[in-house]
Amino acid sequence: MISRWSRAQLSDGGWVRRMFMEGLRLRAEHGDDAVVDLSLGQPLEADEPIAEAFRAAAGDRFHGRFGYMPNLGYMEVRERAALDVGFPGVDASCVAMTSGAAAAITVAIRTFVDPGDEVVGIAPFFPEFRLYCETASARFVPIPTQADLRLDLGAISAALSPRTAAVLLNSPCNPSGHVLDEDELRGLAGMLQRHSERHGRRVLLIVDEVYRRMAYAPHRRLDPLNFYEHSVLARSFSKDLGIAGERIGYLVLHPSLALPETHLGLAQAMRALGFVNAPATAQRALLHLQSWDINLQPYQERRDVAFDAARAAGLDAAEPQGGIYLWFRSPWDDTLAFIDELAKRRVLLTPGVAFGDPSRVRLCFSAPRAKLAAAFDAVTELTGDAVSA
Ligand SMILES: Cc1ncc(COP(=O)(O)O)c(C=O)c1O
Repeated sequence: MISRWSRAQLSDGGWVRRMFMEGLRLRAEHGDDAVVDLSLGQPLEADEPIAEAFRAAAGDRFHGRFGYMPNLGYMEVRERAALDVGFPGVDASCVAMTSGAAAAITVAIRTFVDPGDEVVGIAPFFPEFRLYCETASARFVPIPTQADLRLDLGAISAALSPRTAAVLLNSPCNPSGHVLDEDELRGLAGMLQRHSERHGRRVLLIVDEVYRRMAYAPHRRLDPLNFYEHSVLARSFSKDLGIAGERIGYLVLHPSLALPETHLGLAQAMRALGFVNAPATAQRALLHLQSWDINLQPYQERRDVAFDAARAAGLDAAEPQGGIYLWFRSPWDDTLAFIDELAKRRVLLTPGVAFGDPSRVRLCFSAPRAKLAAAFDAVTELTGDAVSA
């Protein structure tokens, strides 16, 4: 009954959602407290000022409040977002409000990438990147990082072709936790510049910045707009404000790209993809928030707890430089068997195959401490088994 494409998704991917559904099933059977679900990138619970901003936004009244609006969103919200970007020359014309970062990336792809084009990504990658490209009939070409999770510039250079329309990065990275540094951004920008000149076609750099406010010192976010003109940024409030279900984010265009033709392209993409415009109440809630800053401390604490526990368990894990995930080598050769054994103990993690590296496992650490402790108890039990086996 369902399409061949949908069926292929069921068998090929969807690991994150699959684990999420398993979590729901286990919770229904055993109760919330008995299940440790660290498989989905669920942010911490939104705090009261955010709930209050949504209440205030729901009460906003003016002519057309509940009607259609310009596809790119309310002008005053775009202006506020432009201020938040804080890059010289970025104003409301450089911002399009979107249904989360997901929509920001998909509308950018539709606007700048043609069917048959290639989009170079980095492995490990957020699994949806492949879907976003495939549904635009573009080819996603993931290039593995170096062992230290930094960009492999030589391999990226070798992957660029006359068909390359875009490079899609994510920093801080889900799942690896890597934050791009200056050498990586500078090196990549120079390479894209040279490639663009050689082929007479500008390669677009799309940077997914969903976790931009979640970089842990001494690591810090660097602005890709400073390095390469032909760049766009995909941002959202899903994670840092804890409002993933409200579907609100935005796309930032480098000022050199903020042309009437781009605006028309973006609006057309929003209509074609069926988002039409970002949800009105969520847009307005942003206006009711005095600040978009966040308190990183609860995340940083959990990052530390998770990384310390991983080391104590003898796991081969990279210290997360940003984001909300711990990325570690499976202590068992058979990663899926390891994931299954954990699931029998009602601990859900996501196998690295979902992100393009079957040897690894992803754990989301934005969870209550007790759940993190329970997860590492189960992991230690299994790694102990492996040692004694
Ligand atoms: C790297 C990355 N990009 C995009 C998204 C989607 O974000 P949004 O909820 O804003 O669409 C996620 C969500 O987990 C993510 O991890």
